[in-house]
Amino acid sequence: MNQRQQIINEIRRLAAERDAVILAHNYQPDDIQEIADITGDSLGLSIEAAKTPRTVIVFCGVYFMAESAAILSPEKTVLLPRPDAGCPLADCITPEGLRRMKEKHPGAPVVTYVNSSAAVKAESDICCTSANAVRVVHSLAEKEVILAPDRNLGHYIATQTDKVCHLWDGCCCVHDELPLAMLRKAMDAHPDAVVLAHPECRPEILALAHHILSTSGMLAYVRKSAEEKFIIATEMGLLYQLRRDNPDKEFILPSSTLICGSMKKTTLEDLRRSLETLTPVVTVPEEIRRRARRALDRMLAVPRED
Ligand code: 13P
Ligand code: SF4
Repeated sequence: MNQRQQIINEIRRLAAERDAVILAHNYQPDDIQEIADITGDSLGLSIEAAKTPRTVIVFCGVYFMAESAAILSPEKTVLLPRPDAGCPLADCITPEGLRRMKEKHPGAPVVTYVNSSAAVKAESDICCTSANAVRVVHSLAEKEVILAPDRNLGHYIATQTDKVCHLWDGCCCVHDELPLAMLRKAMDAHPDAVVLAHPECRPEILALAHHILSTSGMLAYVRKSAEEKFIIATEMGLLYQLRRDNPDKEFILPSSTLICGSMKKTTLEDLRRSLETLTPVVTVPEEIRRRARRALDRMLAVPRED
């Protein structure tokens, strides 16, 4: 048996012994997605974290995702094999900054993208993900909203609603830096391809996309589609499931810069160590957790389909 297979077997054995579920985001390295019990987008993984009967959740993803699991399941042990896997988008907003913005727009509820810290969620009225952002905003009675922290997602939501939207000026460097010229080049080379873009991309990229979807939304769309060629404007990790599940379809990544360094940190060795030692544990102080939970629960109560 080779060394890689030995590590995989040990991970499986340890996960069973520890009563652990392995959750992996759709951008994780291929071998981590392959070994995970459940892969998904931020919304799907939040739902899984909330309902799993297992006592240990190993979150292969970035910090805010494990924090969300800890907020939703405080009685469980939540492990993040790479605690240094942060998200620059989540780091671009602080609770103090958000409080200052609220003072400028009194009465406007705060809709916060889940790519944010627990402390920022605690200052928010409701959370959203890329899969449900428009539905979440439409679920609110108020005519004015604060959308934080991703300005591109905020801009996209603003095009889908007649509410007045106040946007925090943050972004995901991976999606925001996708050059328009690269997308145009890919579209010129493959004029028959369907363009799927993540809402964290810039407005000019989204304007060219045929469909704007979360990562799991893209997977579901391609699975059902009769089309054969797709340009994928999101992080390259999504290609693993797209190619595995659709061997007869073709996928084009418009730029080789679409790599999230934080998502790529997790290795099989990290996962094994985490299960072996039951560390590093992610916890959220109870006072923050309670308030952040309200915002997440409110989001999870919004119906999944329009
Ligand atoms: P999804 O919720 O669409 O998977 O996106 C998460 C993310 O981090 C996008 O950069
Ligand atoms: Fe954060 Fe962007 Fe990486 Fe997603 S792709 S985890 S938003 S840095």
